[in-house]
Amino acid sequence: MPDTTAYTDILVADPAPHVRQITMNRPKQLNALSANHLNEIVAALELAAEDDEVRAVVLTGGEKVFAAGADLTEMAKRDIATTLKGTRDRAWEGVRKFPKPLIAAVNGYALGGGCEIAMHCDIIIAGDTAKFGQPEVNVGIMPGAGGTQRLARTVGKSLAMKMVLAGEMIDAESALRAGLAVEVVPHEMAVERALRLAATIAQKPPIAVRLAKEAVLKSYDMTLENGLDFERRAFTILLATADMKEGVAAFLEKRKPTFQGR
Ligand code: HXC
Repeated sequence: MPDTTAYTDILVADPAPHVRQITMNRPKQLNALSANHLNEIVAALELAAEDDEVRAVVLTGGEKVFAAGADLTEMAKRDIATTLKGTRDRAWEGVRKFPKPLIAAVNGYALGGGCEIAMHCDIIIAGDTAKFGQPEVNVGIMPGAGGTQRLARTVGKSLAMKMVLAGEMIDAESALRAGLAVEVVPHEMAVERALRLAATIAQKPPIAVRLAKEAVLKSYDMTLENGLDFERRAFTILLATADMKEGVAAFLEKRKPTFQGR
């Protein structure tokens, strides 16, 4: 476990073997993603990426709010010159390029940047109180951290347009129907369910998991032909891993495998 005493806006814990939990924790501002808040999340993800003990990460917020979007008090002071420096874009890139499985447990509002950070995650578990929305249009802007692209690809054009143009939120059941969330559970179970899923993934061979995540994400921006080539190469690499030998041997010997990430 890294020293997390320096964080002011997040909590970091290792609640199960190989599983890290990052909790957004600015409750007074409804977990609005200030620069510091986002930077702390990215710093925690970087540590998790480097740490061989961590095999899956759960990102969550509070019981009532996952995250209410970019911090509008900071946004009020932003201008084109500072925004063009790209500091915030580089922070989002840190989330986008996180190489290990990242699971969002969403309760309450996931709005604007909050919905976008959930969509950066590989899997979204929604509590039954979850509300997803891209209300940026209400304050004169539009999604700026992938919302238009990821929503359209995930929920389809019509619903994406409704959320982005009208700023209307959808509830957990609608998110489930639209494929944005993979499961809806009672709100008090959302974190627990996400942690259980993370623990299941953490028992799998880490290199296979990492390459499989990369391959699935490639499907978003590659042609089928190129994606299939990527998959074939990734598959071939896995044949050279000790974990593949262990996995197959364990199956044949009818025992549980022990994966080392090698
Ligand atoms: C800063 C925020 C905030 C935000 C809420 N607060 N959202 N502060 N940035 N995004 C603050 C409020 O000002 C208030 O502070 C306190 O949190 C409680 O909020 P209320 O509005 O009183 O709570 P409630 O009535 O329960 O309404 C909840 C809410 C609403 C529906 C989530 O707060 C809301 O609509 N928030 C804005 C959501 C939004 O527009 N998000 C998109 C932001 S733009 P005080 O001090 O009064 O107690 C964005 C762009 C991303 O995300 C681009 C990425 C590059």
